[in-house]
Amino acid sequence: MTIRREIPEKRDTIALAKSIVPQLKAGDVIFLYGGLGSGKTFFVKQIGKFLGIDEAIDSPSFVLLKEYRSGRIPLFHFDLFRLKNEREVIDLGILDVLDSGITCIEWPELASTFITHPSLVLRFDYDGIQRTVIVE
Ligand SMILES: Nc1ncnc2c1ncn2[C@@H]1O[C@H](COP(=O)(O)OP(=O)(O)OP(=O)(O)O)[C@@H](O)[C@H]1O
Ligand SMILES: [Mg+2]
Repeated sequence: MTIRREIPEKRDTIALAKSIVPQLKAGDVIFLYGGLGSGKTFFVKQIGKFLGIDEAIDSPSFVLLKEYRSGRIPLFHFDLFRLKNEREVIDLGILDVLDSGITCIEWPELASTFITHPSLVLRFDYDGIQRTVIVE
């Protein structure tokens, strides 16, 4: 089922994350599509908060992978924006962590060829006026 939600305010993204977190288990993979600044990292921060992670979660844009182990389940947060091919993605160790926690992947295009069945796909959109997310 596909659901489209308006998320004009941060509290709307927070409510979405809050509704998703109780259903998450180790091994789940969340693909986060959407343009620059569309709200992907902000969403992952809220996932972390509701998992009980007490560390600050920031964008993995420059380190590509961040892991947080202080919550109910480990959280792995990838940002593949700067990567060029699947080999670089695999070299990050993505396949080694999948089973041990929840994996959130921003810019997942390069992972989608070998992670063919993500648990959840979120498509964020922000056109400068409206913010929406499609949940698949
Ligand atoms: N639902 C929302 N309502 C209002 N502001 C939001 C919402 N979601 C995110 N923001 C704000 O939008 C800005 C960009 O969000 P964010 O960094 O999450 O984007 P991103 O999709 O991760 O971008 P990038 O592709 O560059 O990593 C942040 O300042 C964030 O606080
Ligand atoms: Mg981001």
